[in-house]
Amino acid sequence: MNKKQGFARAHTNIALLKYWGKVDSDLILPANDSISLTLDKFYTDTKVTFSDDYTSDRFYLNRHLMNPKKMQRVNRVLEAVKNEFGYQGYAKIESENHVPTSAGLASSASGMAALAGAAVDALGDVSDLNNLSRFARLGSGSASRSIFGGIVHWHRGYDHQSSFAEQIVAEDEIDLNMVTIVIDHRKKKIKSTLGMQHTAETSPFYPAWVEATNQAVPEMIAAVKENNFTKIGELAEHSASMMHATTLSSNPSFTYFAPETIQAIKLVEQLRNSGIECYYTIDAGPNVKVLCQSKNITRVRDFFKNYFAEEQLVVAKPGSGIKFTKN
Ligand code: DP6
Repeated sequence: MNKKQGFARAHTNIALLKYWGKVDSDLILPANDSISLTLDKFYTDTKVTFSDDYTSDRFYLNRHLMNPKKMQRVNRVLEAVKNEFGYQGYAKIESENHVPTSAGLASSASGMAALAGAAVDALGDVSDLNNLSRFARLGSGSASRSIFGGIVHWHRGYDHQSSFAEQIVAEDEIDLNMVTIVIDHRKKKIKSTLGMQHTAETSPFYPAWVEATNQAVPEMIAAVKENNFTKIGELAEHSASMMHATTLSSNPSFTYFAPETIQAIKLVEQLRNSGIECYYTIDAGPNVKVLCQSKNITRVRDFFKNYFAEEQLVVAKPGSGIKFTKN
């Protein structure tokens, strides 16, 4: 039997300037550029096997065979890779998520990035990371950024070719860490795909969001290159606040915040006012992620231990880009 096999490991990322809304939902072209931090510890390992003997694509997530109806996004990535390399058979995908749902972090970014990497590793050449980023994007927008380590910029572009991510600085060049306060680890009620679509369609604030984010991009790039934690934190916090203001101003309006989300925001402000510099960011769910420098990780953690259980606090550091071996 004629088999081709590939493997990839990709890490999750958290956006500092958020992606929130598409101009093309088939190609996943975003309305604005976004900038993220790739995280260590949390990653997805994926093996893709192509064989002329298979009669359908199969996807095993944590050893469970997934329902083919839930494979739409996986298929989009697979089809694009197969097309590029002129392959006509089917694939077996075996994916292991090392992103505990209890960590309150999404796994779609690392999952789709690892899938794109493993599929290309099986059929072609993985040296063109921008191209891997384009394939990952077809599975989930934020996945385009998980191809790279450190701080990453996703150029919104205007077509498949021009919309991809690239690294701004590597993981060892930035002092930026994240303490997640896990407020609710269950799956989100309004998935980001739907939340951003509804917001873009109905919030009168949406055009302002796009404009303000695109304007903040060069400022964030400069702040990252200078390792200017204060500026990075201020821009990230403002981006998150603006994103959540678009959900509140959508119609019908909604929010991802839980009561404890507001409590955590207030605590971040309190801690910052007491002289320990930290900033919050929040994604499409109630969990609050606190950005801080290495010297303050323990202080930040100890402070939040007064208000939340120890298991609710998860520390992450800058992580590396995609790898094609397990080590
Ligand atoms: C709030 O990448 O999950 O985390 O492209 O529809 O799959 P799709 O959306 P997704 O959205 C992420 C939204 C966010 C912000 C961000 O990661 O930039």
